[in-house]
Amino acid sequence: MRQKIVAGNWKMNKLFHEAEDLVGAIANAIDDNEPDCEVIVCTPSLYLEVAGDYSEESQIRVGAQNVSEHDSGAYTGEISAPMLSSMAIDYCIVGHSERRKYFGESDALLFQKAERLLENDISPIFCIGELLEEREANNHFNVVEEQLNNSVFKFNKDEFSNIILAYEPVWAIGTGKTATPEQAQEMHAFIRGLIAKKYDKETAENTSILYGGSCNAENAKELFSQKDVDGGLIGGASLKAKDFTKIIYSF
Ligand code: PGA
Repeated sequence: MRQKIVAGNWKMNKLFHEAEDLVGAIANAIDDNEPDCEVIVCTPSLYLEVAGDYSEESQIRVGAQNVSEHDSGAYTGEISAPMLSSMAIDYCIVGHSERRKYFGESDALLFQKAERLLENDISPIFCIGELLEEREANNHFNVVEEQLNNSVFKFNKDEFSNIILAYEPVWAIGTGKTATPEQAQEMHAFIRGLIAKKYDKETAENTSILYGGSCNAENAKELFSQKDVDGGLIGGASLKAKDFTKIIYSF
C-alpha cells in the first residue's frame, strides 16, 4: 500500500548508548506529535533489539540493513530473514549501492534476499540508482530499468505489492549533491510508469517510491512535495535526532 515514509539508514554508525539515545529521542518526538508518515529506523543489526523495544511502545518502526539469502545454516556472521522476523522487524534495506559496490552484490543475489524477506513477511526497501558516469552518459533511465527487470520485477504482482522502492542516485549518496526535485520527480514518474507497464496502473499507484541521496532537513520539504516522491531514505541526516525529526515533519 502506498504510504508516506521517512526511513533512516544509520549505516555503520553509533555506539550502543548513542543508538539508545537516538532512537529514544526520535520515538519521543513522534509520540508527542503524530507525524503524517511512517517512521522507520534501519539500525545496525546489533541495535535492532533495542530499537524493537521502542517500536513496541511508540510509533517508530524498525528495519535491518542487510539479510542473508539463506534461511539458516553454516554462514558465519550472517543474519537470516527468519531471525529478523522472530524479532518483529518489519523492514529491511536491500540493494543499497554500498552493498552493491563494496560487497559485490548482484541483482540476482538481491532478488534472492528480497525473496527471503517476503517469505518472512518483511518488506524490502529495495534500492536502485545510477552512477554519475551513467547519468552523464544519459543512460540513467536504462540503468534503473535494468536493475528493476533483473530483480524485483521478477516477483508476481502480489509479492511486488510488499516492496518499497528507494531511488538513490549513487552520485548523491553522502556527497551533499542532492538530485534536484525535478530530477527526482522525473525518475520517480519513470519508475512508476515501468511498474504500470509490468503489472498494472493500480499496482503502480500503490507503490511507495522513496528518494535517497543527501536528503536533509533543508531540502526534504521540496523533494517530498513532488507528486511521485513518497518520502525519503535518509543516511547522514538520520544520525541527528533534530535533523531527522525535521525531515519527518516535512510533509
Ligand atoms: P545520505 O545517504 O543521505 O547520507 O546521502 C542515503 C543512503 O545512503 O541511503
